[in-house]
Amino acid sequence: MCGIVGYIGNQKASPILINGLIRLEYRGYDSAGISTIEKNSLSIMKDKGRVKNLYQLEGIDSLTGTVGIAHTRWATHGKPSQENAHPHMDNSKTFSVVHNGIIENYHELRKFLIDHGYTFYSQTDTEIIPNLVHYYYSKDTVSDDLKFLRAFQHACSDFKGSYGIEIICKDYPDQMIVTRKDSPLVIGKGEEENYVSSDIPAILSFTRNFYLLNDFEYAVLSRNAISFYDQELQSIAKEVKHIEWNASSAEKDGYEDFMLKEIYEQPTAIRETIGAKFSESSHCVFDELPFTKEYLATLNRIYIIACGTAMHAGLAGKNTFEKLCKISTEVDVASEFRYRNPLVDEKTLCIFISQSGETADTIAALKLCKEKGAKTLAISNVIGSSITREADYSIYTHAGPEIAVASTKAYTSQVMLITILAIYFAEILECNQNVITPLKKEIMELPKKIEETLTLAKSIQDFSKKIYQEKDMFFLGRGIDETVAKEASLKLKEISYIHSESYPAGELKHGPIALIENDMTVISIITEPNLVEKMISNIQEVITRGAKTLVITNQEIDANLFDRMIKIPETSPFLSPILSIIPLQLLSYYISKEKGLDVDKPRNLAKSVTVE
Ligand code: G6P
Repeated sequence: MCGIVGYIGNQKASPILINGLIRLEYRGYDSAGISTIEKNSLSIMKDKGRVKNLYQLEGIDSLTGTVGIAHTRWATHGKPSQENAHPHMDNSKTFSVVHNGIIENYHELRKFLIDHGYTFYSQTDTEIIPNLVHYYYSKDTVSDDLKFLRAFQHACSDFKGSYGIEIICKDYPDQMIVTRKDSPLVIGKGEEENYVSSDIPAILSFTRNFYLLNDFEYAVLSRNAISFYDQELQSIAKEVKHIEWNASSAEKDGYEDFMLKEIYEQPTAIRETIGAKFSESSHCVFDELPFTKEYLATLNRIYIIACGTAMHAGLAGKNTFEKLCKISTEVDVASEFRYRNPLVDEKTLCIFISQSGETADTIAALKLCKEKGAKTLAISNVIGSSITREADYSIYTHAGPEIAVASTKAYTSQVMLITILAIYFAEILECNQNVITPLKKEIMELPKKIEETLTLAKSIQDFSKKIYQEKDMFFLGRGIDETVAKEASLKLKEISYIHSESYPAGELKHGPIALIENDMTVISIITEPNLVEKMISNIQEVITRGAKTLVITNQEIDANLFDRMIKIPETSPFLSPILSIIPLQLLSYYISKEKGLDVDKPRNLAKSVTVE
């Protein structure tokens, strides 16, 4: 986690850096800080808490440096405090560093440095970086253009763990050096100015031309040039990538919060994700995939591996792969999958879903599957993200930048894309043609149905006013609706801090029903036609025990059976998760607003989890 930004150019660096930090706050907001080169000395200003504390610091306006680095922190080593905030300097105040990741062997390196006379002022792993660079720098007797880079590379070769690092040096006032390993970092190319950031949206208003750095590579930025080096400091060439996202897609555009904007962007996100992959009369096309009937027919299973909301999208994928393609599919949380010695071999297809493409556990699970000989396929929203560079094949959701920590449009786009992928497989395998034709028709109609579902917002907002003070809630479903219950419950926890459980409705009576109390809210999803009666019986069981009930359904059910029923448009059961989650995203959003919480930046969370 953590967000880093860098600027080198002819403008005052501090406003540009702070602007970038504000956009990166979703990556952590325990502290924020910037460091600039001011008349041959390094300045540092930092504070605990949000970026707004930083720009209220006295003296921040007087920074005039045109080269600088900045950081917003999600604390790992060392509690959130001013002294643990980045940037960190070495003892001689020659180097200033920001870091995203964890230096796992920092205890050892810290001891080494203490033994060599260095003093530490924070509890962070990061503080060893500038000091170790200084250690090597002071030992190098050759003073040339590359001395700074050599010392930095020497220090980095000692690190174990993950890092995205920006470093500036007072002796090289016209340079900034960056490197990465398993942590995201992009370089933006401008006109006589260059940028660095943890992600593209943070600097999208300045440039749409980017360079992507691979693990262990270095970039040396000056105002007019960017030079790239490999691990051994051999010069390498890189191609600039032009990003199509427009700058306003990373702005709130009149919405109160990014989350609300992103909920409303779902019709477009789904339309863009469907793209031109098929028409009602033509087969699905994924030019980037090589799969043949022989390969798919010999698969022993598909594994879908992801974290958080992306894992919930994987659950919808399991349902579709098994029903449509008759391929046994398992879904696992990346952090568990890695350590269970999974049954993966060359006959397993492993699919990894990650909005950011940077989730550390998902990337590590992917590497494991490659070692075991499986083919790997990444589904990501970010072109060029780490996961897409590791995987054998990649396909993309086209949701546009998702800024709010709680995922909404990325989830529905992931469900959409994995459904189209399953159709593609089924077409190759020549199974279920009778189901596929009407399903394709339904897909084409989906964006309109999402628009229709969004018109329910007002009545959901009214309902949220009745329940926002609750302490506990239950979400129930059966079949595909149970996977939506999981995602709805996660959304509520994340942004409203209300404890909630999701449960398969039929399983409730085997324990959790003991928790149902008078007036507790139980929310149920009913879209599986063959499970309507069973669901109604389960809901009766909680009504009998005093629960208030809300039902989200696309079925013809007597509304009088429940306290509140919300009717969503009918669609194919393969697509229903995309529609039934929308009222529940809105419900979580409005409950959070009613409670006066920060919807986009819920406490303790970060959007991109780049630590294991
Ligand atoms: C974090 C975010 C979630 C997200 C999960 C996986 O926990 O808060 O919203 O679903 O990471 O992220 P990914 O980028 O891999 O989809």
